[in-house]
Order: sequence, then C-alpha cells, then structure tokens
Amino acid sequence: MHDPERYQKFEAQGRMLANRVKKRFQHFKKRFARGNIEVFRLYDWDIPEIRAVVDWYAGHLVIGEYIRRQSLDEWLPTMAGHVAAVLDVPMEKVHLKLRRAGKQDGPRYERLDHTEEKIVVSERDLKFYVNPADFVDTGLFSDHRDTRMMVRKMAQGRDFVNLYCYTAAFTCAAAMGGARSTVSVDRSETAIAWARQNLAVNGLLTDANTLVHARVFDFLKEARQRGASFDLGVIDPPSYSTTRADGDAFDVLTDHPKLLEAVVSIMRPGGVLFFSTNHQRFAPRLSDLPVSKAEEITDQTIPEDYARKNKKIHRCWRIQV
Ligand SMILES: C[S@@+](CC[C@H](N)C(=O)[O-])C[C@H]1O[C@@H](n2cnc3c(N)ncnc32)[C@H](O)[C@@H]1O
Repeated sequence: MHDPERYQKFEAQGRMLANRVKKRFQHFKKRFARGNIEVFRLYDWDIPEIRAVVDWYAGHLVIGEYIRRQSLDEWLPTMAGHVAAVLDVPMEKVHLKLRRAGKQDGPRYERLDHTEEKIVVSERDLKFYVNPADFVDTGLFSDHRDTRMMVRKMAQGRDFVNLYCYTAAFTCAAAMGGARSTVSVDRSETAIAWARQNLAVNGLLTDANTLVHARVFDFLKEARQRGASFDLGVIDPPSYSTTRADGDAFDVLTDHPKLLEAVVSIMRPGGVLFFSTNHQRFAPRLSDLPVSKAEEITDQTIPEDYARKNKKIHRCWRIQV
C-alpha cells in the first residue's frame, strides 16, 4: 500500500475491529461451547465505517465485506489479518467474501473458489457440512439455530415439508425431533446433494426422509394433485430469484401471498408453518390467508449473537393452519 495515510487508517480500523471481535469471542465462546454450538457471529457492521461481518466456524473465520461497489483490494485482507491475529487463527483458515446486499448488485450465489472442501460443524447434537471457502453462503444459516430447535420440538410424529430447503438443516432438526416423514425441496442440484450429505452425517438417510430436486411451485402443484398433506413445514424462500427463460422469477415482496396460499392448501387443519424471509424491507400480507393464526415470532427466533438494534437478520412467522 503506497498511501501512508490510507495505510494508517486501515490499520486503525483493523485494530478496532479486532478489539471488538476479541471481546465478543470471549463473551460467547464458553456459553456456545456448553451448548456444543460451533458456528456463531462475532461482528456484523457494528461500527459504521467498518462494513464487515465476521463469523466463527469451528476454528475457521469467514470474513465478509458489505460492498456497494468494488472496494479497495487491501481493505478486507487488512481487517482479516488483525482479526486472525487476535484470535490466533492461521491464515489458511480465514476465508474472505464480498457480500452483495441486494438484487441490483447481481446474483448472491456465485461461486468464489473451487476448493470443494467441506468441514463438519456441530449445532447442539446436529452436524452439518459447511464449505467456508467456495460460496458467499457456507451451507449453514446459523441465525436460524433457535428456529430449528422450535421445529424439532414440534416434530414428533408429524409429516414435515421443507421448501427452499438448501442444505436441509431444518429437515435434520425435524427428523431428529422424531418427524414421521420429511420432504425437502430445492431447485439446485448442488443443494440437494449437500442436503443428502447432511442427512447422512446425522444418520437420517432413510426412506422416511425424501429429497426432491424441483422448483417449489411445481412441487406444490404436483403434491396437491396426488393429495399429499403435511402438518409441519418451513418456508424460507430467497428474497429474489433471478429471472430465467422458463419464467421462474420470484420476488418475496410481491409473491409471498401466492406462495403461502399454495402451501396452506397442502397442510392439514391444525398444521403449523414457519415462514421466514431475509428481505430487509419486507411487508407481510398475511391477513387474507385461510388460516387460524399468523403471528410474527422474530424476537424468539433471532439468537443473541445476531441481535442488532437497527437490523433484523431475518423475520419469521408462525402460521397455524
Ligand atoms: C435462502 S436459501 C434457503 C435456506 C434454507 N431454508 C436453510 O435453512 O438453510 C434459498 C434456497 O432456495 C433455492 N431456490 C431458489 N428458487 C427456488 C425455486 N423456485 N424452487 C426451489 N428452490 C429454489 C435455492 O437453490 C436456495 O437453496
């Protein structure tokens, strides 16, 4: 770096970030270790000028920069150097990401690297494969660990459906909680293969747990036609899914009523759905749904390491059919 002033500024920010991360790590390390939780958040843009997120993955660090436009190459590595040093993590276990905030910035799921290296991490007595290096998303959304616990506690004897299942973390929770059957749906082949690995590592790869490689609306139509029905479900769609030639575009803001109505039509009376979105300006339109109750439970589903004053990482509703 040739500009000494900029160098000084980056170094000062790096020290400030490392300080904050160290305190949080000391605060969370023991209590999460007691619960056997190996993935948690250490920093999320708490200091306005440090637009970064730092996550702990069982001894690995995933450090992202929220970008509006391509930022200077040296900034993120400088931050990472300081954080890694203060937590004593070797640089080969530090993974850097540029996080894109909205749809105007391009696809969120682009591949960053090709290491294909997955590690197994624990969340209570569940295990999940994560890939800290290759994608912006690692395979596990840790902000939903308490929602998974809620699903698990309700799952005994139920038929569970997981829509937009990604790596099927919710399914593992439901199956571990004694679900009679589970069906997990995603249109990505990579996600379905990953979901299979997660079921297997938890000893849940049985005939009762089905993985479906399909688009959600196609699945719902087909499920209704064959008279399939469920009494517990999770719907966690992407905020947007890019327009494709086959007309598969989805925008949670405008399309959630249609989606939820179709899901409700394959639920048994008394069934329960958890609906979640990460959209930052989401406005729910749930009042016309033919259900007995739809209640926002975000305050119960965001864990303490993700709690922030001005931003909710996700919003979540419990819908009683
Ligand atoms: C936000 S992630 C879901 C996270 C997941 N519920 C979890 O707990 O880890 C969104 C997922 O939706 C999938 N997806 C996007 N559009 C889809 C569609 N039309 N049908 C099925 N899956 C879709 C993507 O492949 C991705 O795996």
